[in-house]
Amino acid sequence: MHSIVFCFFELPSGAFKMKNTHLKILEFLKSELNFDYSGYHIAMLERRIQNRIVNVGSTTSEAYFEHLQNNSDEPPRLIKNFMINVSQFFRDPLSFELLAKVIIPDIIAAKQRSHDHSIRIWSAGCSYGEEAYSLAMLFKEYFDKEKVHFNLDFFATDFDSRIIEKARKGLYTSMSMKEMKLGLLNKYFTERGESYAVRPELKEMVQFSTYDLLDKNSYAPSESVYGDFDLILCRNVLIYFNQEFQDLILKKLVRSLASKGILMLGESEVPVAPYREKLRQVSKYCKIFEKK
Ligand SMILES: C[S@@+](CC[C@H](N)C(=O)[O-])C[C@H]1O[C@@H](n2cnc3c(N)ncnc32)[C@H](O)[C@@H]1O
Repeated sequence: MHSIVFCFFELPSGAFKMKNTHLKILEFLKSELNFDYSGYHIAMLERRIQNRIVNVGSTTSEAYFEHLQNNSDEPPRLIKNFMINVSQFFRDPLSFELLAKVIIPDIIAAKQRSHDHSIRIWSAGCSYGEEAYSLAMLFKEYFDKEKVHFNLDFFATDFDSRIIEKARKGLYTSMSMKEMKLGLLNKYFTERGESYAVRPELKEMVQFSTYDLLDKNSYAPSESVYGDFDLILCRNVLIYFNQEFQDLILKKLVRSLASKGILMLGESEVPVAPYREKLRQVSKYCKIFEKK
């Protein structure tokens, strides 16, 4: 009979027990694929390992560990399983409404006052690109309605290169379209069988690239050259990480924001303590903050 050893991790919510085999699995991923699990919520990793054990039909954690070591395609699959890449256009409609009605007009008014014709945006942890294209549509709609023109330096990044390839292709199913308005769908997409393809004029507005938000050697994607962003969206990414790694990411984002720049987080996310002082929540209904 296998003895079960528990390891204890310090989490904000207290200590959490992890099975020894699960720890071995994570150590294996670290040595084989350089996957640094230390910043992730351990409970989430546990759930996803368990889920994978069931999916491959292993009867015990130990049997799954054997499977992992003997099948070269399993380690990347397991890492992929840790990440939920689910996204959709205009996810959290109220936040996007606020962007369209308040944030974008305010950014443009400030730019007009300072005779600055460039707007810098970063969608960090953009997944398949729905978030970035949603925002690009809102800017385009505003430019057309108000008959103004600004250069958009719009960067959208994710650390998963496979996802970024898909974002560049801009091909979506109806699953991503639940919050889409018919007018925008007709204007910015072309139907291709069961899918919807982003039209070139929208695609050209966003530059997709890979970037790891945990990279300790930079504050912003190298493509953007420097930060100074007027608007950063980093939504439903912080939830994966423990306090220490959330701190690392927020340090980067706050530093990359221009003075009075806007940061938008996911609906269930709040800035960890040191950053609450540096940010002012713009609306009590949405996780939109202004850099003080
Ligand atoms: C749930 S999705 C959120 C997508 C989109 N922001 C939204 O709210 O709909 C989380 C994304 O964060 C990305 N991600 C996770 N860790 C990351 C890291 N260290 N650096 C960059 N992106 C990361 C994942 O690949 C995934 O695409």
